[in-house]
Amino acid sequence: MIKIKTRDEIIKMRKAGKLAAQVLEYIEPFIKEKVTTGRLDALCHEFIVKNGAVPAPLNYHGYPRSICASVNNVVCHGIPSQSKELKNGDIVNIDITAILNGYFGDTSKTYTIGEVPEPTRLLVERTEKAMYRGIDAIKPNSYLYEVGRAIEKYVSKFGYSIVREYGGHGIGNEFHEDPHIYHFFTTLNKIRLKPGMCFTVEPMINEGGYQVITSKADGWTVTTKDNSLSAQFEHTVLVTDQGYEILTKL
Ligand code: MF3
Ligand code: CO
Ligand code: CO
Repeated sequence: MIKIKTRDEIIKMRKAGKLAAQVLEYIEPFIKEKVTTGRLDALCHEFIVKNGAVPAPLNYHGYPRSICASVNNVVCHGIPSQSKELKNGDIVNIDITAILNGYFGDTSKTYTIGEVPEPTRLLVERTEKAMYRGIDAIKPNSYLYEVGRAIEKYVSKFGYSIVREYGGHGIGNEFHEDPHIYHFFTTLNKIRLKPGMCFTVEPMINEGGYQVITSKADGWTVTTKDNSLSAQFEHTVLVTDQGYEILTKL
């Protein structure tokens, strides 16, 4: 069941989305060589709480930290650690979900550390563009699968692959609501977009194959099966009468 947000809820979603975006803005200058992902987690936690919000990942199905920090071949759900230092040439996705007055804002970006090889820089840049291509396909009364179709059309040119096991999600006063958002074309997303729907667009793009593995050690960390690099960007969006509004913006 896809919940159409009321005007009141949309105001709350805007506030939650803006705060999530502000967390990314706040943490960006700290994302440097030698910082640990555990330190980034602690700083984001403090910022979120000081702003009267709650970090949604913490204790979510037993998740142990307040953000996800996914380095290099980690696709998503990387657990921040005080022993994981970022190094020159790394890429890291920082995924923030904040709950403000009961409503969720969910956004992520992938950052490059120091000097990264040109192919790596391109993977990150094109993953962000892929997300915006997907978002730009959002129009009331068109089908949700246009989002995945636009992403797939763009990404396929580069020989990258799109992760199939994880996708975007409806979002509101719950973290993960209907519908599931596929980042590739499928009639499973033959759903008419209606004003008032809120969902995330968050493609995970691999330099190699699409297959992923979940860590048996921690039950969370998702890596590429071939250990190739993976990048991701995420926004929370609202379907409007005109098209869409990105809620996780400053
Ligand atoms: N923020 C992630 C998403 O985009 C979900 C993280 S769930 C967690 O859906 F438990 F790993 F934090
Ligand atoms: Co999300
Ligand atoms: Co997220």
